Order: sequence, then structure tokens, then C-alpha cells
Amino acid sequence: MDTYKPLTIVIFGATGDLFKKKLSQAFFDLYKEEILPKQTSIYGISRKDLSDEDFRKLLRENFQSKDIKHTKDFLENVFYKKGDIEDIETFEELKKELAMRDEVLGECTNKLFYLAVVPELYEKVFKNLSISGLSIPCAPSADEKNYGWIRILVEKPFGKDQIHAEMLDELLGKLFAEDQIFRIDHYLAKETLQNILAFRFANSLFEPLWSKKHIHSVHIKAFEGGEKGAVGEKGGAYDKIGALKDVGQNHLLQMLALVSMESPESLSSESIRRERADLLSAVEVKEDDGEFVRGQYEGYIEEAGVNSFSETETYFKAELNINNERWKGVPFYIEHGKALSKTLAEIAVTFKEKNEEGEGLFPKVNNTLVFHIQPNEGISVDFFAKKSGFLYELEKKTLSFRYKSSDDTPFVYPYKKLLVDVLKGDQTLFVSTEEICQEWRIVGEIMKKLEEKPLFVYPKGTAPEKII
Ligand code: BG6
Repeated sequence: MDTYKPLTIVIFGATGDLFKKKLSQAFFDLYKEEILPKQTSIYGISRKDLSDEDFRKLLRENFQSKDIKHTKDFLENVFYKKGDIEDIETFEELKKELAMRDEVLGECTNKLFYLAVVPELYEKVFKNLSISGLSIPCAPSADEKNYGWIRILVEKPFGKDQIHAEMLDELLGKLFAEDQIFRIDHYLAKETLQNILAFRFANSLFEPLWSKKHIHSVHIKAFEGGEKGAVGEKGGAYDKIGALKDVGQNHLLQMLALVSMESPESLSSESIRRERADLLSAVEVKEDDGEFVRGQYEGYIEEAGVNSFSETETYFKAELNINNERWKGVPFYIEHGKALSKTLAEIAVTFKEKNEEGEGLFPKVNNTLVFHIQPNEGISVDFFAKKSGFLYELEKKTLSFRYKSSDDTPFVYPYKKLLVDVLKGDQTLFVSTEEICQEWRIVGEIMKKLEEKPLFVYPKGTAPEKII
């Protein structure tokens, strides 16, 4: 990563929660740790009427750090531009401003465009980037003196269904090469998700058991409870998407891909992304007696921005199969809901009972291996041991490790990791075109199944086990 070359970052949708609460903190931390180039400027774009100072204040209020000196230095290079991203003038003015900055610095700076806006606006932004010429690097080839790259970061969900995602992708493909496009799924940058491949392919312990022969089922869950659980301020945007597209289409399917894909040839971004995409292409929804449930929490339709007749699901469960040699017949459940009794995200892999003819030595038990993602990342394995005492009775015990409990491990939170990778040009933790298309295909098929089911209403704070 070139930490010396000046960098210009443009955030479309800069007054939204994502930038205020997550991205700006990640940029600030990278600045403090001197990972961002010294000459980094951030331009926030949004329709709100704010001055540079108002915008800085907004960010300052959200920073967790009380480090006044670094905060001040960082914010001096943060600017705000009021503008409608549907209007070409916003882009033309921005182009002039960025060109002026390059001129002052005497260099063609690297440029990062971040789309933190609702998916309906992507098409417009892509087109306006192209028409205004902002998508063209000031020195277009690495051979030219002063070359500066252009990269584009796109938040999820990318598109609203398969056809729309393919259309957007085609458009994006005309403006940028695939290696300039970074489609975010922040779950991919969670330690436990990255650790799945290390755990599976570096150890000899579990991989021999990792197939339909020994695995009974895999349950991928993402539950949200407490204050974070309801849709809150995001009601308007959420209502157009729903639980399946908000979390199922991306986070849950990526979890599924990592836990079940074949070993990549190498740890290169191409190999890993190819294996994830191959796995996704083998995913099928369970026909006939599959488990499909959709629900909505009580009071959802009264949330700000939500249509009062909304049938948007805030909970879903779906049963999938993987049509390949390794997994044929093993049920994979994906389940997500808002306003439940707890916040928890995990992949639970349940092993089959020990297969013994007649009466075995012990009662039959299922071992479970869990990849924990929320609230505390780690891995645990349930096994059975002899209960201490006179009798030969079994009791469940757990072997477990948690990332945050080992003090020597610096914990890198997802957005920070993703931003560093964009600057390095490493796409491993970003979603490829093939993956996006497969994810939307699967979601389309699940949606058909869910729509056949009645929408049931659950009280806020319901325990996930009580939903069905
Ligand atoms: C986001 C969804 O992608 O992921 C949110 O849009 C959800 O609705 C969030 O709450 C969960 O992420 P995390 O990292 O808090 O588990």
C-alpha cells in the first residue's frame, strides 16, 4: 500500500448513519495509526445544508476517541459539499474541486469513491460519475508519470433483485474494471468469518469430518435484539428491502459459502472468490417439505418511514441444500430476525450421532461446533465427557476460544480491515460479480417460497426458538 501518495476519498451519502457511526471512525483510526497517507482528504456529499464546520462537528460527536489533537488534525482535511447526487452539476463541481486539489499537490492523487447511499441511487451515481468524467483517472495508465488509481466502494445490497443487480453490474463494468470495484459485505471482514478457512484448512482435526457423511445439519443465524433490534431510524429504507435482502442475501449466504466451500487452490483473492462463487452456484432451496417462515414484529408498521400496510418481513427462516458430492442431503438453515429476545450471530454445525449397531456403550449424542460472530467472536465445540462421580454418566462440556479474551490479539473491526484492503487493492473480502449474481438467484428462489407462507406477527423480544 502506498502510504505516501496523496489520497482523495469521496463519500456519497455522508450524513447517513453508516458514515457517521462506522466509516468516519474507521477512517479516523487509520489516520491515527498512520495507515492512511498523510495527505488524505475526505469529501462528504449529501443534500443537507451543512458547512464544513457543521459536518466536522457531526463526526466529532460520533467519535469514540477523546484524542483532541488527532481529531483536530484529521478533521482539518474533511470537507463537506452540499449536493444532489441525482444532479450532474454536483459531480461537475466535485470534478473541478478534485482537479484543483491535485493541482495544488502537484500530483494526480489516488481516488476512492464510496457509495453509502440507498441502492436505488446507485445507477444514477454510476452514470453521473461517468458523464462528469470523474471515473477517468487523471493519468490513466500506470506507465504514466503521476498515475493515480480510481476505486469504487459499493455498500450492500447491490441491486434489489437478480435482474436489477445484473443490470447495475453491466453498467458498472462499462465504467470500471473488475479490479477497481469493491462490493462490500462487512461480514466477510469479521475475524470469525476469515477464521473459518484457517480453521477448516489449516487443521487436520475437523476437515475429514466435514461432509454429509458426518454432518447432520448446519444452522446459520443472525438475531438482533435489545435497542439495536428494531429498525429505528432506518425504517423507510428497510421497508423497501426486508430481512431477506438486508441480511440474508449477503451476510448469511457468505457465511454459508465459507463454511461449506471447497479448499481454494491458494489464498489469492481470485481462488477464494472463485470457490465461494462455485459453492453458491450449487445452492438450491429445499423443495416440498422445506422449512420456510416469514414474520414481522409487532409495531413494525408504526415505525417512522414504514408503510402502514407493509408486509415486509423482519424475520425469515429458509432451508437450503447444496447440490454437490460433499453436501447432498444436508439441510442448511439460514435464519435472521429483528426485535428478537437477543443479539446473536453464529454458524452451528451439528454432527451426526455416532452410528452404532444395536445398543451403544453410551446414549446417542450430537456434537456441535459453533463459529460465534456476535456478540463475541470465537469458536466453540460441544462434546460429552464422563460426569465425575461413581456412575458412568455423560455431561456436556465445551471447548472454546474467544478473540476478545486473548489480550495479545489486536482486534481489527470490519470496516477498518475493509478500508485497508481497498487501499491495498486486495479484493478477497469483497464480493465478486459471480457471487452477487448467485446470491440474487438464491434470494429470488427463497422469496418465492416465503411468499407462499402467511406473514405472522411476533411480539418484540420474542425468543427465536418460539417463533415457529
Ligand atoms: C447490516 C444490516 O448489513 O448488518 C443491518 O443492514 C444489520 O440491518 C447489520 O443490523 C448487522 O451487522 P453487525 O455487524 O452489527 O452484526
